[in-house]
Amino acid sequence: MNALATAQVAADPFFPRLKKLVIESTGMAFYLDKDDDLARILHARLVERGVESCAQYLEVLEAPRGNDEMDLLVAELTIGETYFFRHKEQFDALRDIILPEVIERNQSSRRLRIWSAGCSIGPEPYSLAILLKREFGVRIAGWNVQIVATDINQKFLTRAREGRYDEWAFRVTGDELREDCFVKVGRQWEIRPEFKRQVSFQYHNLIKDRFPSVADNITSFDVIICRNVIIYFSRETIEGLIPCFREALVENGWLVMGHAEPNQELFRDYRTVNTAGAVLYQKAVPQCPTPLVQSPVHRAPLPPIRSPLMSSPPPAPLLRPRVPVAPVPVVKPLPPKGTAGLNVVRELADRGEWVQAAAACDELLKHDALDARLHFYRAMIHEQSGEVDAAEQALKRAIYLDRKFVLPHYHLGLFYLRRQDVGGAVRCFRNALALLEGLPEHQTVLDGDDGLTVGHLRDTAAMHLKLMGAA
Ligand SMILES: C[S@@+](CC[C@H](N)C(=O)[O-])C[C@H]1O[C@@H](n2cnc3c(N)ncnc32)[C@H](O)[C@@H]1O
Repeated sequence: MNALATAQVAADPFFPRLKKLVIESTGMAFYLDKDDDLARILHARLVERGVESCAQYLEVLEAPRGNDEMDLLVAELTIGETYFFRHKEQFDALRDIILPEVIERNQSSRRLRIWSAGCSIGPEPYSLAILLKREFGVRIAGWNVQIVATDINQKFLTRAREGRYDEWAFRVTGDELREDCFVKVGRQWEIRPEFKRQVSFQYHNLIKDRFPSVADNITSFDVIICRNVIIYFSRETIEGLIPCFREALVENGWLVMGHAEPNQELFRDYRTVNTAGAVLYQKAVPQCPTPLVQSPVHRAPLPPIRSPLMSSPPPAPLLRPRVPVAPVPVVKPLPPKGTAGLNVVRELADRGEWVQAAAACDELLKHDALDARLHFYRAMIHEQSGEVDAAEQALKRAIYLDRKFVLPHYHLGLFYLRRQDVGGAVRCFRNALALLEGLPEHQTVLDGDDGLTVGHLRDTAAMHLKLMGAA
């Protein structure tokens, strides 16, 4: 590395714009006061691309297909430090408090959804898969268990899916666990297929990709784990994310942040539970009925429950009785047909209000049975409600009604992937890519949905194909 050239990058008049773009795109405010580090990384990318100034590099990033270069840059900017069962006290809390409570509550749905947000090369979601199988395998046999693991770094995701690790990744686990759950491949250890199958990896940028989003499979989680990710973000960014995590949880769902990230003020809308060495946040059940459409951000703070380690008043019981299924609330008059109606369904679905979302969608379908978008959302709602066959049928119906509608192709691919039908999955992801061909990166794939873009879906579909060896 040429020190002079790195210094030139830092002194380039367009360096501040590039820095702003990097921070806005990734959330990594960490680089605000690290010009030397950022300039070194940018210099390496400039050399690799054969461009001579920050202005030219900005043009590359902003050009059509600029996402590809942004991915390569992000791969250099992000810090992926991770290992199996990192911060044992949090895994103890998952084993002793969170998972028993969730499994008890989900006895009737037999469904469990966990999100590892910022999963790096995979040890965190795989540790969860191992914990579930070893500690709860009998109790959740036959359940629909999904561990969705996401990251902004495509290279990390590829490595995560490969699931091969050096000894160092096992620095806090015993030999017994490694030998039981991994197979030795050369000098590395590969996670056994039964654990690999439990985890689905996908690209997701916490800053840019709106969530919750049913279309992006980022919704209705029983547990969200986002550890050692927000430490790189600004306070403002974190304040924007925490309500989104809350919206992406089911009622009574749990949020686990990094052990160095507890902050009562930031998490005031959650119930806080302190255990030995871990702070857990639980989404409290609202005291009054949820309005049909609500603002994700402005909420009245909920009173925190006292932790078992705190003094009086006595702690609320951790294992709550199962919440009875709420009667279908009175749904406000639905907007007529079209996008406005679809938006109501989508908002309900994104928030995981499946009963209301199903009622609204069925009502709209009565008047507009040929709207492929409604069938697509009906499929998502079926799927989240555990109605797998109905979900598949609704996806196929959406494709039949509009062959050019990309989302049902993509989701049918995910569906086949979970069923381990590789041939079916490859066909669907290829169809999705073909339909996305030539469309602008930043265009949204669904009218009015400001979250899911062509670039995002293209990257994710391409990654699935690559991981299946079919790129
Ligand atoms: C230090 S690692 C943490 C890995 C794991 N959660 C753990 O604690 O062991 C931080 C991860 O956050 C990811 N990350 C950073 N910014 C992100 C963003 N805007 N969206 C999604 N992931 C992001 C990085 O790529 C990296 O893999």
